[in-house]
Amino acid sequence: MPTLETTVDGLKLPNPFVIASGPPGTNGNVIGKAFDEGWGAVVCKTLSLDASKVVNVQPRYARLRARDSQEIIGWENIELISDRSFDVWAEELKAVKDKYPDRILIASIMEEYNKDAWFEIVERCQELGVDALELNFSCPHGLPERKMGSAMGEDPELLEEVAGWVQQAATVPVWAKMTPNVTHIEDPARAALQAGCQGISAINTIRGVLGVDLDTLRPEPTVEGYSTVGGYSSQAILPIALRMTMEIAQVIRDEFSGRTLSGIGGIETGSDAAQFLLLGADTVQVCTGVMKYGYGMVRSMKADLLAFMEKHDFETLDDFKGHSLQYFTSHSDLVKRQAEAQTAKSKVKEETVGADDQWRGNEFVKQSDALARG
Ligand SMILES: Cc1cc2nc3c(=O)[nH]c(=O)nc-3n(C[C@H](O)[C@H](O)[C@H](O)COP(=O)(O)O)c2cc1C
Repeated sequence: MPTLETTVDGLKLPNPFVIASGPPGTNGNVIGKAFDEGWGAVVCKTLSLDASKVVNVQPRYARLRARDSQEIIGWENIELISDRSFDVWAEELKAVKDKYPDRILIASIMEEYNKDAWFEIVERCQELGVDALELNFSCPHGLPERKMGSAMGEDPELLEEVAGWVQQAATVPVWAKMTPNVTHIEDPARAALQAGCQGISAINTIRGVLGVDLDTLRPEPTVEGYSTVGGYSSQAILPIALRMTMEIAQVIRDEFSGRTLSGIGGIETGSDAAQFLLLGADTVQVCTGVMKYGYGMVRSMKADLLAFMEKHDFETLDDFKGHSLQYFTSHSDLVKRQAEAQTAKSKVKEETVGADDQWRGNEFVKQSDALARG
């Protein structure tokens, strides 16, 4: 019988399914609910020392639906970090740890470019008994105007300096959460690992504009007729998150052996999770999925992942972690491999297009389909 139990940076998790920072970890009450439903760990909504500077608006979400099924596939938010005071958080996090001493509680934290403030928030969170810290270097809206969040995550030098401050004060494992809104995510990830962070969490939301209402001509979500660039999440971002997971996992494999990775982005099923683990993630985090399906979704995710493991005779997560990384290569290597595989080559020649001028208008869909099947 396979097991989902795993130890990451010395933290013992009953399974790799972690609540990502956001509404599903927004107060002690819902964090307790997540533990009751069986989540492996919870990252709380990002907190800061002075919540009075955090002012949210309504509405702050907008959703993209699939054309046919109307299922929600994309989610845009312009929500800031927590607007609840540090003192209230302190009471609730402590109470959660008292009630669930064996469960893994991770405090997501964010501060301005100020060494004393980072020292203070790290020390105060540790006093509450949290098991680990996640540094939010990634919120894409609102906070960058105060040089916080992704303003740090987009600047590897700044990120390394701040992560270094945290390392001086931290006595628990530290994960650095990456923004995907950069050209090469390896650069900020490498900076965080160089500074001594034990783990990387990736990705936060992708900067997006969800759409424009064709009756009012206003962009969404609309606040008093206006909008602002927000963060895009949910199923639609999964392929981008998988790519970034793969890129960071390669950096860890090649340069920082033993460090860890928490994959995030569009995960809703155990099969989604299996793919992140195959590309090198140690754990997976879910935010929007919980907002769509509720905390109970973790039960089917666990069953789904166990079924995948049974099918392949994997006993532990380590048996397949990073297994599929070896199958990435350069495009020129694909060309070489295909030229060598004579049978495959002739099949591809018959059914699909080889060069751009072979595309035919009346067979376009058929030809695209054959190229997708390989
Ligand atoms: C409404 C909303 C609020 C969020 N708030 C935070 C936050 O406070 N801190 C943080 O690090 N990430 C925050 N996130 C980002 C998520 O933790 C996650 O990185 C992102 O949504 C991608 O994962 P998903 O597709 O599972 O939602 C938020 C996401 C959403 C949708």
